[in-house]
Parts: sequence; C-alpha cells; structure tokens
Amino acid sequence: MTPDQRRTFIADHTTIGPAPFVPEVRLHMGGLAMSLWEAAALADERLPVPPPYWAWPWAGGQALARYVLDGPDVVRGRRVADIGSGGGIVAIAAALAGAAHVVAIDIEPYAVEACRLNAMANGIDTVVEARQADPVGSDDGWDVVLAGDVWYEAELAAYMEPWLRRLAARGAEVLTGDLGRAYLPAAGLSELARYTVPTLVDLEDVTQKEARVLRFGAG
Ligand SMILES: C[S@@+](CC[C@H](N)C(=O)[O-])C[C@H]1O[C@@H](n2cnc3c(N)ncnc32)[C@H](O)[C@@H]1O
Repeated sequence: MTPDQRRTFIADHTTIGPAPFVPEVRLHMGGLAMSLWEAAALADERLPVPPPYWAWPWAGGQALARYVLDGPDVVRGRRVADIGSGGGIVAIAAALAGAAHVVAIDIEPYAVEACRLNAMANGIDTVVEARQADPVGSDDGWDVVLAGDVWYEAELAAYMEPWLRRLAARGAEVLTGDLGRAYLPAAGLSELARYTVPTLVDLEDVTQKEARVLRFGAG
C-alpha cells in the first residue's frame, strides 16, 4: 500500500473528534477494534497486519499528553521525540505546548500516516515530523523523550527499557505514560502525575483506568 492509500483507508474508517481526556487534541479515531483490524488486513498485502493501535489514543498516551499540556514548560522550546507514537496524541500535545520540534516515531506505517493526518487536523504539521522507524539504539540529541503506552509486551519492554535508560543517563528528560501494563519497569521510575482516564470497554474491558506519568530516574 502507498502512503496515499493508507491515508485514504484511515480517513474512510475513522471519525475525527476530540480525544476524550485531552480535548485540545483532535484525532481520527476508529470504532470497534476487531472490525477495523479485519478491514485493515483485507486492504493490506502484509501478513500479518498488526493491530490498528494507531486508531485510538491509549490511556498512557492520554495521561502523558494531559501532563504536557498542563505543564508546558517540560517541552516548550525543546526538541522532543515521541516513541511508539501511534496516532500521535503525545507528539501533537507537545507541539501544542510549544515544543520547537517533535519527531513522532512509530514502526507501523499506518501509524505514521495517521499521525500526519492528525498533525494536519491540529494545525501543527510544521512542528511534528512523523517518521517510520524503529528508533531503539538511535539518538538525535533530543532534549525530551516521551513514550505513551509502550509496556504491553514483554519483548518490546525488554528491548526499549535499556535504551530509554541510556537516554535519561545522558541527560534527556524521559517520560512515560502507563495505565499499569504488565511490563512497565518495576523500579527506577518516579511518579509525576496520576489521572483517571476514560477508556473504551472494547480495548480495556472497563470505562476508565488510572494512568500515571513517570520519569526515568530518581525523583
Ligand atoms: C499502544 S500503542 C500507543 C500509541 C500512542 N503512544 C498512544 O499512547 O496513544 C503502541 C505503539 O508503539 C508502536 N511500536 C511498537 N514497537 C515499536 C518499535 N520498536 N519502535 C517504534 N514504535 C513501536 C506500535 O506500532 C504502536 O503504535
């Protein structure tokens, strides 16, 4: 599929509206997960097609976006990376909060196109650069590194954690948002904020969850 075809698919299979916990950010959002995944799989030549994580703002990402918008000093004038950006809620919040530049990095091509569409819908597409990559191991000298809801798989967590720790050790401000996923690092994080975030029953089995914003390193 070409980037244009992915953007058309996203536009055809989502509706645009405010993120539930971060209404300052407008996003293309999907309906029921399974039917959207089936439609994405039918449209895509890849096997298997990953779940359409890009189609919803996840609770960890919503918490992190809320934190950044409520305390914009953390990103204002700074060079920011959003890791595992999905539809880009965290990157867009950072741009709206005054970041100088935000790179939204996701391994999944649908996510990159969703983030591009969402950045345009929020009028900050000159600040947010959506990039398809696996960023683990790289370092563009970012001042701030944000990662919303990336602790959902053991392998991914074990892969990302040491790299995020290295970025924090060299002086980057590294923050994550998480609702209590199984593979959130058990130590070495300090809590900055805690929110009750609305969630979709289809995705999380409940209508709300407590999600925290955590900083890599001592408090
Ligand atoms: C649960 S979604 C979270 C999306 C967004 N941060 C949010 O909170 O709404 C996790 C995202 O991480 C991405 N991802 C998984 N492994 C990755 C990797 N190695 N490099 C970059 N992105 C990755 C997935 O494609 C997915 O979009």
